Amino acid sequence: MTRHFLGLADASGAAIAAMLGDALDRKAARASWPKGRADSDAPLAGRILAMIFEKNSTRTRVSFDVAMRQLGGSAIVLDAGTTQLGRGETIADTARVLSRMVDAIMIRTDDHAKIEELAHYADVPVINGLTDLSHPCQIMADLLTVLERGKPLPGLQVAWLGDGNNVLNSLIEAAGLLKFTVRAGCPVGFEPDAAFVAKARGSGGDILLTANPIEAAEGADVVVTDTWISMGQADSDSKIAVMEPYRVDQALMARAKPDSIFLHCLPAHRGEEVVDLVVDGPQSAIWDEAENRIHAQKSVLRWVFEQL
Ligand code: CP
Ligand code: NVA
Repeated sequence: MTRHFLGLADASGAAIAAMLGDALDRKAARASWPKGRADSDAPLAGRILAMIFEKNSTRTRVSFDVAMRQLGGSAIVLDAGTTQLGRGETIADTARVLSRMVDAIMIRTDDHAKIEELAHYADVPVINGLTDLSHPCQIMADLLTVLERGKPLPGLQVAWLGDGNNVLNSLIEAAGLLKFTVRAGCPVGFEPDAAFVAKARGSGGDILLTANPIEAAEGADVVVTDTWISMGQADSDSKIAVMEPYRVDQALMARAKPDSIFLHCLPAHRGEEVVDLVVDGPQSAIWDEAENRIHAQKSVLRWVFEQL
């Protein structure tokens, strides 16, 4: 069976914990090395990753490329608009062709059904680099950052403020797999995916949905937010107006624990979902979080190649 990483639930909680442990070890082993130098064991030497982008990206694109180099392999970036996929070649045929040319495929797309179709027809591992439904690689980096800051996952209380989007869905999925608490403060009508919530609750995740931002933030170990308008969503003044009370500012951070950290997958819309004083403040861990995309994804790559 080819191992795909379309969502966190493709791996078990134990496998995710093993990936995070591997990421911590590998990051420590190459501290202060030049970023392009391969790890001493170069575990993916000779492997090629194709990356298909149907949406913009800075972090996902660069971190997967650097991750492959550090693992001793290489990556090819495909801007979907300039490929035959962009002219109507089917996903199935694209999957069949790329499976003959590369060892794994990462895709960022819109409809989650597209990544499922790609995985169905591919003979090589497919990794989710973000869909409208989920962003599992981002949550791997977030969990790594939380662990680095000395916060164990069991008993962790994570507050989400704002739009109930793809990143929140993956956070909730992680809470079910790794048994921590997510208190999602989202306006009515902008809640996370109901199926993700039900599944996480069913497997032992403690998920609170509230329209009250203060209730969400109260006593949190980690405060997380993201853009109010995700890629592909229509910009809307009415949505922004509804989101205003969920902006992460110093008053909201003061509701969380004094040693809480602030996370944001980035890009940040400073002054909208979060104020500068929080983004640039002492509790912000966002630059570690961004760097950790590399380290977390190296372990995801090793997992799909059955090295973990
Ligand atoms: N956080 C994240 O996925 O960033 P990019 O959109 O830049 O890849
Ligand atoms: N929710 C955001 C995440 C960007 C990394 C989006 O989908 O645009």
